[in-house]
Amino acid sequence: MEKRKIVVTSALPYANGDIHIGHLVEYLQTDFWVRFQKLRGNDCVYVCADDTHGTPVMIRARKEGITPEELIARTHAIHLKDFTDFQIAFDNYYSTNSPENKEFSEQIFAAMEKSGGITLRSSPQLYCEKCGMFLPDRFVKGTCPKCGAEGQYGDSCDKCGSTYGAEELGSPKCTTCGGTPVVKDSEHLYFELEPQHEYLEKWIPGHTTSDVSNKLLEWFREPLRGWCISRDAPYFGFEIPGHKGKFFYVWVDAPIGYLASLKNWCGSRGERFEDWWQNPKVERYHFIGKDIIRFHCLFWPGMLHVAGFEQPDKIFVHGFLTVNGEKMSKSKGTFVNARTYLDHLPPEALRYYYAAKLGPTTDDMDLNLDDFVQRVNSDLVGKVTNIASRSAQMLQKKLGGALASLAGHDEELALLKRLRDGGETVARHYEERRFSQAVVEICRLADAANEYFDRREPWKAVKSDPEAARVTLTAALNAFRILAIYLKPILPIYADKAMKLFGESEWTWGSAQTAVEGVAIGEYEYLASRIEKAQVDAMVAAAAEKPAETGEVAHESRASKNKGNGERGAGNGAVSPLKPEIAFPDFEKLDLRIGVVESCETVPKSSKLLRFVLDAGALGKRTIFSGIRAAYPEPEKLVGKEVVFVANLAPRKMSVGVSEGMILFAGEPGKCGGVLSPSSPASPGTEVT
Ligand code: MSP
Ligand code: ZN
Repeated sequence: MEKRKIVVTSALPYANGDIHIGHLVEYLQTDFWVRFQKLRGNDCVYVCADDTHGTPVMIRARKEGITPEELIARTHAIHLKDFTDFQIAFDNYYSTNSPENKEFSEQIFAAMEKSGGITLRSSPQLYCEKCGMFLPDRFVKGTCPKCGAEGQYGDSCDKCGSTYGAEELGSPKCTTCGGTPVVKDSEHLYFELEPQHEYLEKWIPGHTTSDVSNKLLEWFREPLRGWCISRDAPYFGFEIPGHKGKFFYVWVDAPIGYLASLKNWCGSRGERFEDWWQNPKVERYHFIGKDIIRFHCLFWPGMLHVAGFEQPDKIFVHGFLTVNGEKMSKSKGTFVNARTYLDHLPPEALRYYYAAKLGPTTDDMDLNLDDFVQRVNSDLVGKVTNIASRSAQMLQKKLGGALASLAGHDEELALLKRLRDGGETVARHYEERRFSQAVVEICRLADAANEYFDRREPWKAVKSDPEAARVTLTAALNAFRILAIYLKPILPIYADKAMKLFGESEWTWGSAQTAVEGVAIGEYEYLASRIEKAQVDAMVAAAAEKPAETGEVAHESRASKNKGNGERGAGNGAVSPLKPEIAFPDFEKLDLRIGVVESCETVPKSSKLLRFVLDAGALGKRTIFSGIRAAYPEPEKLVGKEVVFVANLAPRKMSVGVSEGMILFAGEPGKCGGVLSPSSPASPGTEVT
């Protein structure tokens, strides 16, 4: 068969966050697939890079007092080390802040402009005078214009789910400096997609799975909206040629980073980029998570199309990781950094477990921590590795280490044939990204080998008929050898050690068709050992203390359901970060008083609000609306309670009435629990000091 030429990418991780076990769902499955292709003898190149541009990197560097370049160089090294230690083998791990990327971005943008697809539109935006910048949606918080919930980001409300423009927020605050931004007009560049309506509508269905494309095609019932591709200075990124002070939005040059990384790889190999990306005989695949579908299945093909580049052949979309059936949680210690995992557990265990759970769909994938320990111990160690460790050690200790010849031993030959015959099924599963099925099939074959081993009882035969035992151990070891070849895409280092046991120097998928006989086996190296629940517990404890820092900022929530067309948000149930430090005079401005709840009731038509009337002593009565209904199913129970409230907050007009202050409650955002009661009884109106 002719060698296939294949380019594979994983999405580029943000340079301002840690690699965590959620990311690994993607990088591991891509690595499995790429390694499988290479093992099959295909010419497969796996490229990736850090996604370096954007406001978050800029702000973070500023806070640390270093340049963005220093920051991204540091993360690049850390990310690459994490990946390498997880045995993820990129052919090139580059950066979007590269000369190749700048050149491609300019080239593609010029083509977009030339096609007439770029328009200029002016729109009102929030500008922070103190910070000297237009505020991206995630850098401003205020009151939701629809439901009145406080502390909402500039794009959508966590409480009521409505979306809006940042300039519609009530009492907006810059999250960097705490200042009040002003509304200013700014002109932006848009990439118009409507001219490609028909092209994309035709293109999409053949290039991703049907569940993804059906969802995408829903948007095609209406004209496609233009995509804003510029950001104002200061911005860490590439300035747009001919548009001073405007920069490419990070999502413009991020996918172009795939091309740049490939080109850089070509350069280092003396190959031509054109022979890869632009070669119609080459297959090109992107692996991505379901939160970034819109960028890869709509904007990206739109850009490539107008610029005359080849399209990806397929976009493989996976779901999100859940841990013990829930969203990863920082406080529960399930938001685990790649490094934290590695501090406690072997990479093979996670590689094996993810493979055992991964399929080709966008379904979320659960890492159940008990099941993880159990599966690794019973299958990887108990079923597969045991064959090798028992056989190799017995052969070496009791029989001098030499393998027998299997010629004429029908039962043994039949066993090996059975394992070889299973190979094409395993291969098909790999090819179609049904990794879990591949693992099931491999385990089934391992069962056959174990069953054979147990039936032959070599531990008895070794005393009564050593040569018969040698035949049994030879067959068992060769069975293991075949299993290790099949597992090589998932467990590359494990497989390499196994290979050395047989004195071989290279395995291909076809190596399973041969057997190693009549020679002495090598030293048995430890392959995999049992993992203990205690290691997992220690990892979770460490992660609770130091959760992964998530780099995502300018995008939609990674909660488990895909919102399809929005940009993602940081909302992952995390404890909210500390707001910027305030000076004492700022604090002094707050007038905190005691109030006694005189009445507390639900507000018709509002699922969020409770209407409080406080007795504030000499200050009189105060009506205050609080968006905490979810936390108090029986609001009347609050009557008579003392609360602390901000008494000098400007009255705020809401659709349900005027709110005259703010009551302090404690608890997680979204479901705050306790009333912050003063510890000793105080009369209404008393100042809190
Ligand atoms: N920088 C963008 C991608 C640009 S690609 C041109 C980005 N970065 S990311 O670091 O937030 O995510 C990288 C990849 O990891 C994405 O495909 C994302 O879907 C995936 N995952 C991140 N968190 C994940 C989970 N919790 N679960 C599964 N995959 C997840 O998006
Ligand atoms: Zn500011």
